[in-house]
Formats: sequence, structure tokens, C-alpha cells
Amino acid sequence: MWRELRRFRPADLDRHDIAYRAWVRRQMATGKFLAFVVDDGSGRPVASGALWLMPSQPRPGPLGRGEVPYVLSMFTDRRHRGLGVASRIVQEMIAWARARRYGRLVLHASRFGRPVYERLGFENGSEMRLALPGGRQARRARRSRARAGRA
Ligand SMILES: CC(C)(COP(=O)(O)OP(=O)(O)OC[C@H]1O[C@@H](n2cnc3c(N)ncnc32)[C@H](O)[C@@H]1OP(=O)(O)O)[C@@H](O)C(=O)NCCC(=O)NCCS
Repeated sequence: MWRELRRFRPADLDRHDIAYRAWVRRQMATGKFLAFVVDDGSGRPVASGALWLMPSQPRPGPLGRGEVPYVLSMFTDRRHRGLGVASRIVQEMIAWARARRYGRLVLHASRFGRPVYERLGFENGSEMRLALPGGRQARRARRSRARAGRA
């Protein structure tokens, strides 16, 4: 997914893969991460997505569960795109969350994913963000660009 969304260096993607795998395993062990996988009928996965039950602060009303289902890692193999597979995965996620009486699902949409989510009723929310160019991530990216330049 990240390879298609942004131009990360292969080394960054490899590092991320290891870190993400370890994180997913920890989340799955506590029941806070669910994978939704579609196969081609012969067991070969062609699309998947995940729901992470993300911790959230206590708040009044029906959203005060202490966690919110967060949709992430949506990916459909190129040869199976445009067939409604990702839409079906998200529909299953919605049904899963509705059956457990969660008050909402949240996600960050890529430009590819946005139409899929909008069609299913997702709307822009109130999240705002502030980029901090001097932050650790930016410094690390600058250092790795400099290393790449020297190599
Ligand atoms: C985003 C992504 C997961 C969508 O996967 P997909 O399986 O092709 O998605 P869908 O088939 O459900 O929907 C895509 C299109 O197929 C069309 N479609 C065809 N048959 C359909 C059906 N039966 N039901 C719903 N949509 C259908 C939809 O109209 C939709 O068209 P639109 O996007 O132009 O409105 C895929 O493009 C992808 O992996 N992109 C790269 C990674 C990425 O961006 N991930 C999302 C991060 S938020």
C-alpha cells in the first residue's frame, strides 16, 4: 500500500514492514486488530483491510467506549480493482462495528480510497493537523536523503 501511496525509499519500506508486522501481532494478541481478507477462491489473497480498535479518550455519550474502530491497510491487488472488492470489505467492517454497537468508524483516506469510502457514507470530520518540519521524522528523512546522496 505504501509503495503506491508515497515514494518511500525501499530501505524505509523494509524497516516499516518489520515494525508494522510486530505491531500488528501485538494488537492481534490483545484482540484489538482484525484483518478482513478476500481470496480468489483458491486461497490466494487478492485484497485486504484491517480494523484497529484504537484507544480513545473518555467522552460523554455513545462515543465514549474508550476505543474507536479505525480502518487501515486497505489494499486490492491491481488485477482485481474496480470490482467492488474493497467496497465489500468496508461494508463488512461497518456491519461488524454496527453489530457491536460502536458509534462510528474512522480512517484516513488516500485519493484512491476516498470514492470508495464516500460512496459508503463516510464524511470529512473535524480532524486538523499541523506539520512540524523540524520534527524527528523530518530530521531522519533529511539524514537518509543525505546518506543516499553520498552513496
Ligand atoms: C483504494 C483501493 C483499495 C480500492 O480497491 P477496489 O477493490 O478497486 O475498490 P472497489 O472496486 O470497491 O471500488 C473501486 C471502483 O470500482 C467500482 N465498482 C465496480 N464494481 C463495484 C461494485 N460491485 N461495488 C462497488 N464498487 C464497484 C466503484 O464504482 C469504484 O469506482 P470509483 O472509485 O471510480 O468510484 C485500491 O485502489 C488500492 O489498493 N489502492 C492503492 C492503496 C490505497 O490507496 N489504499 C487505500 C488507503 S486509504
